[in-house]
Amino acid sequence: MSVSRDNKKIRVLIVDDIQETRDNLKKLLYFEDDIEIIGTASNGREGVEQATALRPDIVLMDINMPGMDGIQASELISQQDPNIQVVMMSVQGEADYLRRSMLAGAREFLIKPFSSEELANSLRRVYQLALTRRVAMPAPAPLAPPPDAEYIQYIPRKPQVGKIIALYSPKGGVGVSTLAVNLALALQSETRARVAIVDANLQFGDVGVLLNLPTSRTIADVIEAKGDPDEVLMNGILVTHSSGVKILVAPPQPEMAELVTPDHLRAILELLQKMFDYIVVDTGKALNDPLLTVFDLAEQIVLVATGEMSALKDAKLFFEVTQKLEYPPAKTMLILNRHDKSNLNARDLEAIIKHPITGLVPRDDKATALALTRGIPVVLTQRGIPFSQALFSMARMLKREPIPAEASSSNAKNAAAAALPTKTAKPKKRFALFGRS
Ligand SMILES: Nc1ncnc2c1ncn2[C@@H]1O[C@H](COP(=O)(O)OP(=O)(O)OP(=O)(O)O)[C@@H](O)[C@H]1O
Ligand SMILES: [Mg+2]
Repeated sequence: MSVSRDNKKIRVLIVDDIQETRDNLKKLLYFEDDIEIIGTASNGREGVEQATALRPDIVLMDINMPGMDGIQASELISQQDPNIQVVMMSVQGEADYLRRSMLAGAREFLIKPFSSEELANSLRRVYQLALTRRVAMPAPAPLAPPPDAEYIQYIPRKPQVGKIIALYSPKGGVGVSTLAVNLALALQSETRARVAIVDANLQFGDVGVLLNLPTSRTIADVIEAKGDPDEVLMNGILVTHSSGVKILVAPPQPEMAELVTPDHLRAILELLQKMFDYIVVDTGKALNDPLLTVFDLAEQIVLVATGEMSALKDAKLFFEVTQKLEYPPAKTMLILNRHDKSNLNARDLEAIIKHPITGLVPRDDKATALALTRGIPVVLTQRGIPFSQALFSMARMLKREPIPAEASSSNAKNAAAAALPTKTAKPKKRFALFGRS
């Protein structure tokens, strides 16, 4: 049992056409003291009516129902009251269902059967996210001042360049690509900002596969176009995922990797920095010149390792490289992936590697394998599970602080300074990811 952040019970309406499922859902939530079922409905139309009358915090909605289905009902509920959250349930996890649910306003997608823990955790997560959204609602804008000469002295805000976050491991197969795509999606969900993924694993990139993107447009097309790339060209080559995240896919054949020079990569990344707020770069393990260009431009390098000795040894060597490159220590953060009880605890691992570990991502073979088969990353389908929670925490840690309001009103110099990325800034906090062991 856990209590929601504002100490109120989470009020849930269940909409499912099968009586037995409704009863089972009630049983699953019976022992959760912080969750209250305030009503049930047996079809979409009834669900919309009940939602309007009862104003629940969350509607737990089945997709397939006779008459008005869950997607239509969610659309209507989200339109009527955006503060009511919808968690969609289905026995099928197809990409199209997921996409349509998300477009209809659903916050989370649960695939039946699920455990009471999975269900309760995802209800709590959706509820708490909604609370922060409510709090974050901007106050109504003050009326515009009259067009008086005194007021025309407004301060132009320096355009903020996109933050490049490069994920890397000197050892292959530790989960760099998995974390990169999940992090990008979590960042987009947390910030609603413009997010791009660059697959800079130029020989063996697989971001396109992880996101199930059938495409013939890749980074090789940017190079072939000759000259410095511009936004029009880039927009024609980027592939849009159903989440809205844009992807620059790796070349189709390994030998084409050689075509991409460090200068190309620099031009591409600098252009993307103008077009996006966050650019998440997946990388391969070869420590070559193109990769060093990515690292130079990155505001944050996320070094991924696992608890295995060989991965830790390689990570340790990498820190020696970053020292030689004279990167500030805070530029590289160490994340341990696939963490489970068989690993030494974080403190002992830190002693071995002689470097702080910023966060742990738990091992979840089932969720990651399913995500691979479906081509839908875990954070999109199972937001409440520890793996996803770790990724959302990582996204919150890596997101930019909003520019303080006073910076825009004091003077132009301050405003510009606040807008610039602080390359040497310390990480906001340590161990904020999934709990240490
Ligand atoms: N937290 C996790 N728990 C369990 N399995 C995971 C986790 N993270 C990644 N994996 C699995 O580990 C395998 C390797 O992942 P991934 O391809 O992301 O690694 P990589 O470091 O990018 O590898 P490569 O060196 O081939 O680019 C995949 O099967 C993936 O599903
Ligand atoms: Mg990879």
